[in-house]
Amino acid sequence: MVKERLTLVNPERFAEEHKIAPEKLDAAIAKATAKLAVLAKRSGMDKFPPTCSKEFLYPMGENKHWECGMYTGCYWLAYELTGDEFFRQTAEAQLESYRKRVDEKIGMDDHDVGFVFTPSCVAAYKLTGNEFAKQAALDALDYFYRTSYSKEGKFIIRIHSAWARGDGCRTMMDSLMNAPLMFWGAKETGNKDYYQAGLDHNRTTAELLIREDGSSFHHYQFDPKDASPVRGLTFQGYADDSCWSRGHSWGVYGFPIAYSYTGDETLKETHRNITYFMLNHLPEDMIPFWDYYFDKDSYKDSSAAAIAACGMIEMAKHLPDDAEEKKVFISAANQMVESLIDNYTTDIGRVYDGLIHHVTHAVPFDAGFDECAIYGDYFFLEALLRLKNPEWKMYW
Ligand code: GLY
Repeated sequence: MVKERLTLVNPERFAEEHKIAPEKLDAAIAKATAKLAVLAKRSGMDKFPPTCSKEFLYPMGENKHWECGMYTGCYWLAYELTGDEFFRQTAEAQLESYRKRVDEKIGMDDHDVGFVFTPSCVAAYKLTGNEFAKQAALDALDYFYRTSYSKEGKFIIRIHSAWARGDGCRTMMDSLMNAPLMFWGAKETGNKDYYQAGLDHNRTTAELLIREDGSSFHHYQFDPKDASPVRGLTFQGYADDSCWSRGHSWGVYGFPIAYSYTGDETLKETHRNITYFMLNHLPEDMIPFWDYYFDKDSYKDSSAAAIAACGMIEMAKHLPDDAEEKKVFISAANQMVESLIDNYTTDIGRVYDGLIHHVTHAVPFDAGFDECAIYGDYFFLEALLRLKNPEWKMYW
């Protein structure tokens, strides 16, 4: 938990208004949506990419990972960006497989159920009123809440079946993006327990996973006997006391979403501090290294920038016009997205299935260095849509 408000090391970097030229934004949207059309036409509408690319290509398969929801989400975004019915049909062709995931419990022993069902089924319902998708998302939420929420500890459990294992009783920054399914479900059903769980998970994360300097632990360990706090640690980051950049970005986006549902001012303050920590640690091109421990000579994680850009744009909507951080967030988000467009989407010399490259999935597990990943693609496209249409209504 941060006790004092952080300040910017380089305020001048974000003082000027920075807007991406409309032609550049349109060209990036045209290129991204054209690539998505090629991928669906080549692989079949109902096949899904794996966790990350191999040599920048997605070997397509079944709907069973946490990332799959963001693949369907890409087609909803593309539909909104272009109005092209092909994208809507592609997203709709994938919905049946989410029902199967709920019914057959495919990948449901997991904290990332929100990532799976929000940009796919909740988006389908919000955009087109699809009742089949709404029911699949509500059934997934019911199972998720019953199995993956600790009322005792007030947090979303990481992999509920691992609770009793020595290292199994944990929560993580990523679940700030799983809480929105709870907020949405509470609104749809009137179930106050879902709302309280989403809010309490955010508060627990702010209290235990955010350090005094505004950085974050990736994971937090609890005692399986009584869910009491033990210590912060990492999973995908460099070290227990470092700050994994994508995990941190889940907070830069997750807290604004929670704020949009709850109006909890303490979450807004936490968000300001973690975002200023990030901005104080960005390299020249605005794209973080995979862990903030590094300030040169390491892998970038472009997905961390795309996620954070969406979060800053979202929080800016909830800030008064004269708030310092509003200008900072809008300038920083535009600079990040422009850098992604200019430096991280190039196709020269080879074929990429993904929309952005230089995503680094999990260095400690030797997985996906400088590759593409569908979560990077999704948040890049969402950031483009947010900049194109500031009135955009989020799926989260
Ligand atoms: N949710 C896991 C990740 O961000 O890689």
